[in-house]
Amino acid sequence: MCGIVAYIGQKEAYPIIINGLKRLEYRGYDSAGVALLDEHNHLHVYKKKGKVKNLEDFTKDKSKKGNIGIGHTRWATHGEANDVNAHPHFTTSGHIALIHNGIIENYTTLKAELINRGYKFSSETDTEVLVHLIEDVQKNTGAKLEEAVRLALQGVIGAYAIIVMSMDEPDRLVVAKLSSPMVIGYGDNEFYIASDGSPLVEHTKKVSFLEDGQIATLTKDGEITLKSIKDNTFHAPYVDELEYKLEELEKSGFDHFMLKEIFEQPQAVTNAIRGRIDKHNFTVKLGGVDEFEKTFINARRIIFVACGTSWHSSLIGEYLIEDLARIPVEVEYASEFRYRNPIIFEDDIVIAISQSGETADTKAALELAKKKGALTYGICNVVGSAISRMTDAGSYTHAGPEIGVASTKAFTTQVTILAMMALQLAYKKGTLSKSLFHQYVGELGQISTKIEEILKLDKRIKNIAKTFKDATNFLYLGRGYNFPVALEGALKLKEISYIHAEGYPAAEMKHGPIALIDENMPVLVVATNIEHYEKVLSNIEEVKSRKGRIIAIVNEDDKEVSKLAEFTIPIPATAEPLSPLLSVIPLQLLSYHIAVMRGCDVDQPRNLAKSVTVE
Ligand code: G6P
Repeated sequence: MCGIVAYIGQKEAYPIIINGLKRLEYRGYDSAGVALLDEHNHLHVYKKKGKVKNLEDFTKDKSKKGNIGIGHTRWATHGEANDVNAHPHFTTSGHIALIHNGIIENYTTLKAELINRGYKFSSETDTEVLVHLIEDVQKNTGAKLEEAVRLALQGVIGAYAIIVMSMDEPDRLVVAKLSSPMVIGYGDNEFYIASDGSPLVEHTKKVSFLEDGQIATLTKDGEITLKSIKDNTFHAPYVDELEYKLEELEKSGFDHFMLKEIFEQPQAVTNAIRGRIDKHNFTVKLGGVDEFEKTFINARRIIFVACGTSWHSSLIGEYLIEDLARIPVEVEYASEFRYRNPIIFEDDIVIAISQSGETADTKAALELAKKKGALTYGICNVVGSAISRMTDAGSYTHAGPEIGVASTKAFTTQVTILAMMALQLAYKKGTLSKSLFHQYVGELGQISTKIEEILKLDKRIKNIAKTFKDATNFLYLGRGYNFPVALEGALKLKEISYIHAEGYPAAEMKHGPIALIDENMPVLVVATNIEHYEKVLSNIEEVKSRKGRIIAIVNEDDKEVSKLAEFTIPIPATAEPLSPLLSVIPLQLLSYHIAVMRGCDVDQPRNLAKSVTVE
């Protein structure tokens, strides 16, 4: 949520920043802006509503010289998306410019105090208080930029990753962080800074992830000083290696990142199980679970905390772990959990699922769990992310960078991890027969090949999309393991095509949504269940008798549902607990094609952002 990027060194900063902003656009695209310090130490600030492309057009004929610069792509929180509210924000004198990702929670109080002291605000943002605060500290104390930023932050409540530059100290950038991510990349006597590694990887793989509560000064000669915001003590930077590959950040011939990521799922799932499953000797081993084997076996409950698509995979986790390993599971929206005074026991395990590993509510829910003494476990995709670092143990999904805002391969790899977790726990607890355990492990080993088969149905699904592209509502139904898939299918459609869609447990439909069904209502039914097949069939009959238009995901050998549905998408069968890994694929493709046909911006749908770092 909001992307920040900066450069300091000997090269021209503008092209580096613009490319970086394009890589970070998935974090927000309400506006974009840059500030550059030229060779005469003049500060140039350019800001434009909309995407980075608008900013590029706007700056076409402008001076873009400078070896120091900062850039920002915004997801609006305080103040509408317009040129003025776009970052960078700057002091009235125009000497200091600043970019920010996060939220300043006490900004109204700070703003009132600053206005009282004569400061004039030009934007409606929370961020602008920071820049005036820094100037105020400098005026009152004569402090240099770094110390002024440090002192100003003492009075700030909220979350921030900020980068500050000043005409008066034109050889340095000051960066600071609390609860929002920031990575510093080391070049040759130069620094590249960004919200994540994606803008850095084409320049350097040597990075430091700034820790919460740290402030750093980066100079034009390649020097870094790292300190604690609180007490000004020096820290030694810890240097890490970025794991990204540049080609993972490109569309590689696909029209959209989302389509590329859908098609990457066979490989992503293979990567998720690599080294964890031995399909010949029938063993499953997630390192994190192994390390805390006793705690897992004796857990009173497992509580999942997550948001969005990750919440849907948590729900599948509940079905898997209760069904196979017989451990009680609860699934919580992270945002609700943290504010409802939940009961958390010391022998509970709290598992956070998060693609980005930086979703603010999920992080806060974990902090609460830690405070209460529960073991915390992270299932994250982004290596080195905040959640992966704050949990006691965890498993990476190894899906590779997911750039399309609508999550696809992150979902299937999360479910893959959960299936392995359930199987491993079931084995340790002895809650599953040997033959079922072997069958499930064997099936999991074949899932990638079956996903590949389903991807071959792309054309057929595209044709179905043509029929329903103008629908205004959609209902998604599923039972058992496929109920969360119905929720995920509906979410995908809503997110990228702006068609209203609801996911429902198939039988629950009778308690409300059935009233919506008429001859215009497309009803997508996930009917691959082997268990309760008859029941799903009855639910389809109920829709059909009210003239709803049925699209059914069925197993290849299906006979009955195919007679009732207007369209079917036949997919390979698998063991019931693993069926979400297959049934979700046609739903991803269907939403993708419908969105493209409606002319929607598939990778950057309106109002959304991929990493929600505000509460
Ligand atoms: C946003 C994204 C979703 C994602 C959710 C949770 O809403 O648009 O795609 O599922 O955040 O994100 P996380 O990174 O925690 O999985």
